[in-house]
Amino acid sequence: MAITDRLAIDGGTPVRTTPLLPGWPGGLLIGKEEKAAVLEVIESQSLFRHYGPRPLHRAASLEKAFAQAMGARHALAVTSGTGALITALAALGIGPGDEVAVPTYTWIATINAVVILGAVPLFVDIDESLNMDAAALAAAITPSTRAVIPVHMRGAPANLAPILETARAHHLSVVEDTAQALGGRYRGRRLGTWGQFGAFSLQYHKTITTGEGGMLTSSDPVLFERAVRFHDQGSVRMEELDLLIAGDSPLIIGINFRMGELTAAVGLAQLKKMDWIIERMRANARRIRDGIRDIPGLTFRTLYDEDGETGATVIFFVPTAAQADRFARALAAENLPASVPWWSGQHVYNHFDQIINRRLLSTRKCSWECPHYKGSATLVKGQFPRTDAILQRAVHLDVHPLFADQDVSDVIAGIHKVAQAVL
Ligand SMILES: Cc1ncc(COP(=O)(O)O)c(C=O)c1O
Repeated sequence: MAITDRLAIDGGTPVRTTPLLPGWPGGLLIGKEEKAAVLEVIESQSLFRHYGPRPLHRAASLEKAFAQAMGARHALAVTSGTGALITALAALGIGPGDEVAVPTYTWIATINAVVILGAVPLFVDIDESLNMDAAALAAAITPSTRAVIPVHMRGAPANLAPILETARAHHLSVVEDTAQALGGRYRGRRLGTWGQFGAFSLQYHKTITTGEGGMLTSSDPVLFERAVRFHDQGSVRMEELDLLIAGDSPLIIGINFRMGELTAAVGLAQLKKMDWIIERMRANARRIRDGIRDIPGLTFRTLYDEDGETGATVIFFVPTAAQADRFARALAAENLPASVPWWSGQHVYNHFDQIINRRLLSTRKCSWECPHYKGSATLVKGQFPRTDAILQRAVHLDVHPLFADQDVSDVIAGIHKVAQAVL
């Protein structure tokens, strides 16, 4: 097809007749391995991790395998990425009176985890990596700030070195939200192993999936013990922790974020596919970037470690917000699903009305109005013009490990076609 063709959005012929595979990497690779793993658990009749007639201890095995794959000392299987974040913050003692620095672009779960513990989210601008800006973090910190959550959005690492340096200088704990970058690396080391905790999601959109599920990593045995206890009603039932905890340790108040055996069995099968998935996505993302890098007016998202991204997305900037809007809509009409990150109501600070309006079910507006809080962090629309400009000018496409050569070629051809008409 000639790239001079009329855009599909204007009635022309689309580059493809069928849409690309959606951004469900592990999900579309669920197969006989997961099926066999689930059947084994069903046949054992032992769906609970700690007892049953013939327990297979799949959750414990997943924890061991995940810790090893990530290069962390410990891993804890939980019910979701949100549960992992809440558990990490709770283990760090975060609560009323504390601020936690979060980026202006993240899934709302990052923010909810902070507020649900009675703490206050301190929003920090992003940079062209679409992740937290390190200098903006340093400038935002107040005497109430206790922790920072760098989020590795859309498969790519945040600018960790200066963020960790600032955290160290201000005695902030670091919880890496690695939900969208499971398996990615920074300077050769896995994401989620740089801070006190790494929180991971196994929800369906992620690198590998159990439908719902999450993992938490830590290499600090004291913090890990606190996390384990919090996630299981304050008790300790995990075999390895018997070594760490004195028999007479009193119970603490916790919650139930325990993972079940069926979920863990799927997780183990998916974990074996992780490296292949990432290798394929990264190769596809690179081919796409290489195929479009000569387009005038188009620039790429900053990658602080190009070898460390998972390759789950390709994100590029165009000169204006209006062009990005038209670009993404035109690509979608070519059967190349694309979006502008700014559109997403649950990812962008500006659209977080529930945070802006402090819409809690409780009528007392702790976090913000609780007497322990001495700070004044607030959120209003338009507060971060730099974030707005970055997210409004970006165009985002998901990349799948099962893209065929033709799919990659179609993406490249489609972007050239749209660029010629829009830029
Ligand atoms: C950045 C980010 N943080 C946290 C989460 C929460 O994970 P979950 O949906 O497993 O609770 C998600 C994804 O859903 C996410 O994208």
